[in-house]
This record gives sequence, structure tokens and C-alpha cells, in this order.
Amino acid sequence: MAEELIISTSDDKAERYRSLLPQIEALVAGENDLTANLANIASALKYGMDYFWVGFYRVKGHELVLGPFQGPIACTRIAKGKGVCGKSWKEKKILIVENVEEFPGHIACSAESKSEIVLPALKNGAVALVLDVDSDQIADFDEIDKEYLTQLIRLIELKL
Ligand code: SME
Repeated sequence: MAEELIISTSDDKAERYRSLLPQIEALVAGENDLTANLANIASALKYGMDYFWVGFYRVKGHELVLGPFQGPIACTRIAKGKGVCGKSWKEKKILIVENVEEFPGHIACSAESKSEIVLPALKNGAVALVLDVDSDQIADFDEIDKEYLTQLIRLIELKL
């Protein structure tokens, strides 16, 4: 396991992801406890990419329940189809929201969150959890985040 996260200060977001992802891969290699891995991934992503909030919601029955995260306290339960996370779960789709105030039904856990990306992770074809990343800047997420966070989701799916 890596002892210390090396945080890239590059202005190039893709470069920061390219520095971070192999470190995350090393961090979870050899550890099979899902909570431990999700906790370290949330921390690595929060500090490595400097986003406002990074965390996981796990599917438990008919709702999502807050899992490991880094950032301010957050709502604990989200119904299927509700908010960005619930919609990503229901539609099994990656959602990028440029301005949360313009997303109907957005669940505001913090007034400081301005944009977000949510990606579902699947086990046996069903969504097992979603990764939610929030920014305090409008329109902070794009195809670069989608590309690299999808790689991260593939890694997580191997551990589910
Ligand atoms: N905004 C999310 C809820 C989770 S918090 O942002 C941490 C949503 O609308 O699903």
C-alpha cells in the first residue's frame, strides 16, 4: 500500500487524474474490504483532485445509503429516482450536472455545492453503489472527469 499520496499540481486535469489513478490502484491492491477501499478512494480523490465533496452511496433495498465520503456532512438516505444520485441509480447512467440549481429535484446537502458528477458501479448487472463528486464551482465536470472516473469505477467494480 502507498504510504503517502503524491498530489499533482498540474494545471491539466487529465494529468492530475493520470497521476492519481495508478496510486489509487496501488492503494486498493491487496485489500478486499469494500468499506476500507471506498474510504481510501474517497480521500484520495478529494485530496488528489481538490473537489468539494467526494463520496459513495450504496444501494440498500429501495434506497441509497451514505457510505464512505470526504467533505461536509451529507444526507444519509436517497430514494430511487430522487436527486442526481437516485436518478443515476435508476437510469444506470453517468450524470453530469453543470448547475445543481437547474437540476429538477436536486438534493442539496450543502449550499456550497454548485456542480456534480455521479457514476453508477454495477455488480451482476445491477447498480451496487454510486460515486458522487461535488464541486463548489459551476460546470466543473466534463468529459475528462467522465473518462477518468469511469476508469475508477471499473476498478471499484472489480472489488464489488
Ligand atoms: N446532490 C446529491 C445528493 C448527495 S450530496 O450532494 C452529497 C443528489 O442530488 O443526489
